[in-house]
Amino acid sequence: MIGDLTQLTLCRVPPAPALQAYNAADELVLQRLQEHDGPAGPVLLVNDGFGALATALASTNPDWWNDSAMAAEALMRNVSANQASAPRLIESSGDLKAHYALAIVHAPKSLSLFEWQLSQIAGRLAEGGQCWVAGMVKHLSRGHQKVMQRYFGQINPGLAVKKARCVTLTNPHIQSSPELAHDPDLAHEYVAGQVSLMSQPGCFSEARPDPGALAFLAEFDQLPSVDRFVDLGCGNGVLALNYLHRHPHSQAILIDESRQATASATASAALNGRQVHIHHNNGLSGLGLTDLPLILCNPPFHQSTTLTTDIAHSLFEQAAGALAESGEFWVVGNRHLNYHKTLTRWFSQVTPVSQHPKFVAFRCTAPRV
Ligand SMILES: C[S@@+](CC[C@H](N)C(=O)[O-])C[C@H]1O[C@@H](n2cnc3c(N)ncnc32)[C@H](O)[C@@H]1O
Repeated sequence: MIGDLTQLTLCRVPPAPALQAYNAADELVLQRLQEHDGPAGPVLLVNDGFGALATALASTNPDWWNDSAMAAEALMRNVSANQASAPRLIESSGDLKAHYALAIVHAPKSLSLFEWQLSQIAGRLAEGGQCWVAGMVKHLSRGHQKVMQRYFGQINPGLAVKKARCVTLTNPHIQSSPELAHDPDLAHEYVAGQVSLMSQPGCFSEARPDPGALAFLAEFDQLPSVDRFVDLGCGNGVLALNYLHRHPHSQAILIDESRQATASATASAALNGRQVHIHHNNGLSGLGLTDLPLILCNPPFHQSTTLTTDIAHSLFEQAAGALAESGEFWVVGNRHLNYHKTLTRWFSQVTPVSQHPKFVAFRCTAPRV
C-alpha cells in the first residue's frame, strides 16, 4: 500500500510550518511506483529529506540511507505521527543489502556524494533491479547526468512533471556483487592553518578550506585557553584541530549532523594524531553538555538546496543554553548575514573581533538564559 502524501502529517526538522516536508519529485516517485512492475525484493531509499517517502512506503519495509541526523529526526517524528513503522536505518555502506529490487535516490547537491552513493548501489541491485534518481529539474545538472552514465548502461530520463524528474537507471556497469562494488577514492586531503584535513565525499568544504573558516583561524590567537571545548558543526574538524594545535591538552568535543562530516573529522583527527570525541547529532540536543567554557562555530547557511539561517539561529540558542556563565561562544559568518543582531538575542555581549572584508568573527559572552 502506497500512502498519499497529502493525507500524511509530515514535518521538517528544523520545524518550518510554512514549508512542505516533500516536493513534486516525491509525488512523481509515488505516481511511478503505482505503475511499476519490477522484480520483487527489498527497496532502498536514499537521501529521503524528511522521511516523507519512508512514511508513505512504510508497508514495503524499506531500508533508509541518509547522511543527515536532522533528516533521521524528521523521519522518526513523521513515521510516529502517522502510526507507520520505521524503516531499517543504514548507518554505513556496510549495512546495505546485496540485492535491492529498487533503489530510489534523491539527487544530492554534492556530486561526489552522489557518485559515491551510486558506486555503492550499482553493485547491489538484484537481477533486473532499477535505480531511480529523483529531483527537481533545476537541481539535476549535467554533472549528475555524467555520474549516472559512469555507473549505469541505460538511462531513461522520463517525462518531467511539475518541474520534477524521476530518471530510471538500469544495466549497472557493476553487476550484483557488493564485493565488486567500485569504491572510487573520492576523499580529499589538504592543509588549513596548522593541520592536515581529510574530507569524505559530501563533507562541507570537501576539496579546499572554507574562506570563512580561514578568516576565523586568523583570530585563533585570541581564543581563551580552556580544558574542554565544543566544535559545533565541525565538518572535517578544521576548527577543533587548529585549536588543539595551540592547546594540545584541551578535551575536544566535535559535533556534526552529517555522517560524512563526522567520518571526515575522525579521519582528520587520526591524521594529526589527536584524540577527540565525535558525535553525529543535531546540534547539542540530547547530549547533556552543560557548563562549557568554549564553543566554536562556523554555522551552516543552507539545508540541502535551501538557503536558510534557521539552523544557525537554533545553534546559537543551544550554545547559549550549554555555555558556562563565564563561557565564550565564538562564531564566524558572512558579514551580509548580519548575525550580530540575532546573537544579541542570546548573549548580552557580542563583540566583533575580526577585520576581514567578507567575514566577521564574534566573541559572545554572558548568555541570556
Ligand atoms: C559552514 S559548515 C562548517 C564546517 C567546519 N566547521 C568549517 O569551518 O569548515 C557547517 C557545518 O555544520 C553542520 N551542521 C549543519 N546543521 C547542523 C546541526 N543541526 N547540527 C550539527 N551540525 C550541523 C554541517 O553539516 C556542516 O558541516
